Amino acid sequence: MSKAPWVAVHVSSAEPGRRVGASDIVDALAQQIRGGHVPHGARLPPVRVLERRLGISKNTVQAAYDELVARGLVVSREREGVFVAVPQGDPVPQRRALHAAPVTWAAPLVVSEPLRGLFDLGNVFIDPQLLPRERLAECHRAVLRDGGPMPFYDAQGYPPLRAAIAERLRGRGIEAEADDIVVTVGSQHALDLVARAMAGRVVATEDPGYRYVVPLLRSFGHRVVGLPLDPFGGIDLEGWARILEHERPALVYATTSFHNPTGYSYTSHEIAALVELSARLGCALMEDDWGSDMLSGSEYRPSLRATGGRGVLYLNSFTKKLLPSLRLGFVLADAAAIPALVGAKRASVLGGNLVSEMALCEFLERGYYDTHLATLQVELDARYQACLDVLRASMPALVRWTTPGGGPTLWLDLPRSVDLAALRGRMVNRGIAIEAGASNFLGEPTLHGFRIGYARHPIDALARALEALAAEVGAML
Ligand SMILES: Cc1ncc(COP(=O)(O)O)c(C=O)c1O
Repeated sequence: MSKAPWVAVHVSSAEPGRRVGASDIVDALAQQIRGGHVPHGARLPPVRVLERRLGISKNTVQAAYDELVARGLVVSREREGVFVAVPQGDPVPQRRALHAAPVTWAAPLVVSEPLRGLFDLGNVFIDPQLLPRERLAECHRAVLRDGGPMPFYDAQGYPPLRAAIAERLRGRGIEAEADDIVVTVGSQHALDLVARAMAGRVVATEDPGYRYVVPLLRSFGHRVVGLPLDPFGGIDLEGWARILEHERPALVYATTSFHNPTGYSYTSHEIAALVELSARLGCALMEDDWGSDMLSGSEYRPSLRATGGRGVLYLNSFTKKLLPSLRLGFVLADAAAIPALVGAKRASVLGGNLVSEMALCEFLERGYYDTHLATLQVELDARYQACLDVLRASMPALVRWTTPGGGPTLWLDLPRSVDLAALRGRMVNRGIAIEAGASNFLGEPTLHGFRIGYARHPIDALARALEALAAEVGAML
């Protein structure tokens, strides 16, 4: 039988700085027992525990306990311990089980519906079969084995990793130095840091848009303003200008390439116009480049950061392209923004996972990322083309879709006569989940459809799911 847990007691020397003596222990425990702070029947700390904690000899503690026994305040039981004596006829009091008050929670910021084994047609992750687990494992082993003394974490991120990221960005025409980068836990964390650190309280973003950003911004007290995005018609720049002039947001958050969920990419004219609006109206810009590196050529678009200069915040992430569980991304800012961003990061997580940061750095420096992307992009290109082929061959007339040519997702838009909730139910009956909901929209949905992810599933499985979808849509029209 395991021994009863012992109670925590307070013992200190009567004279500060002097070693605790037996009389100090006797006085302290006698006072706490008489005061009812240590209940009858409770087990006192074992001799060896007090001996080590107070840095005194075993004999001193034993002498104190012997004295407490002599005074009738405690009893010593062989192999069980020393217990506070229970007065005659007084049963050991049973402590009433009290429960501390629970926290009152707000409604969950984000709720994600379980898929319950359904084939997920809207999934924007890359097929795990295509990800370089073995090479990543090698890099982790290398940094843990021969990395020399493990440095302490760096709140801004492992400096050589920041240097390697900056070099890649410069290769895309984006001005970047290691000092301008803060490494984050995926780009969601980069969004979190900006939301924490910025002073302004109004953020404008595309509607529809990336759905986890809105609850995040709101949780920090930001008001979110929608900029309507029609992926089939392009951006209504005059409409956006009117909204921005009226709302004067502190920040415009834009996914300029392979926008989630529509797959839309801004034209160079739209990017230049957004920079002009920013300069004229004083709203800062933040570009989320999440979909770059997925599909060949997808990384060489003129970005908002490249066009608008160092003041534009730029986010990207390795999590989708390397391993979702790696959770590494970054925000590229400029010198003026770094203290606020690093301060926010310290306040929330102190620093990131340095082992993973070092392993990613190793992965980049060995050239594994470039070779991985080259083979990955060939496979993703094939899946994207197959997806387009199946849509063209099987979807009824009046169904339309975007053709992003990059990133992991396109938008499938259906005639208004198709009831999306009913379609979702029919697809669930076929074991397939579609995202036909309003969660990507700030208000009333302006489009009538959902995203299709073509990076997650092998071609055969994707084609079967799309054909099933086409059959259901056809039946409903
Ligand atoms: C547009 C966009 N930005 C950011 C993220 C966050 O991704 P992560 O934190 O994995 O980098 C996502 C995730 O899907 C996204 O779609």
